Amino acid sequence: MIYELTYESVAEDDVSIDEINKILTASRANNKHIDITGCLVYYNRRFIQILEGTKEKVLDLYNKIEKDSRHREVRIIAENPTGERTFPEWGMAYFPIDDNFVSRSELEQFRRNLKLLADFSSPKSVTSILFWVKVKSLMAEPPGYPL
Ligand SMILES: Cc1cc2nc3c(=O)[nH]c(=O)nc-3n(C[C@H](O)[C@H](O)[C@H](O)COP(=O)(O)O)c2cc1C
Repeated sequence: MIYELTYESVAEDDVSIDEINKILTASRANNKHIDITGCLVYYNRRFIQILEGTKEKVLDLYNKIEKDSRHREVRIIAENPTGERTFPEWGMAYFPIDDNFVSRSELEQFRRNLKLLADFSSPKSVTSILFWVKVKSLMAEPPGYPL
């Protein structure tokens, strides 16, 4: 049985996109090792992540992530056992967006890609449905920086 957990949080002010990229590289190696898959979305200084794996590994990892000083206001949105993974192919799919995306067209492209992924993933559990609901509502916000 697979366990899924999704949470949201706010990046600490002094955390750069480089730092977040480093988190991702380390996470992918570690997640592969402990058979965790999922997706991390970063937009307007906010994170939304879904973690999937055995219940023990997911909760252990979440407990670590929750204490990570690089973000705050970490709040679980939903968690539940489920029959299958939403992101079976992904050590951690990653959708970062920040002022490195220089143009509005790039932002629109990013939104379209995420929407496509949402539509194709046909989520089956409450956790994965709420993950996508949260992602879509976050993406509906205008960017908090000039394009
Ligand atoms: C937003 C966010 C997402 C994270 N996602 C993961 C993840 O998917 N896998 C992971 O191993 N660490 C992740 N981390 C990093 C962990 O909090 C922690 O630093 C890492 O697991 C290393 O912990 P350790 O040094 O105690 O082994 C994330 C951190 C943040 C801030």
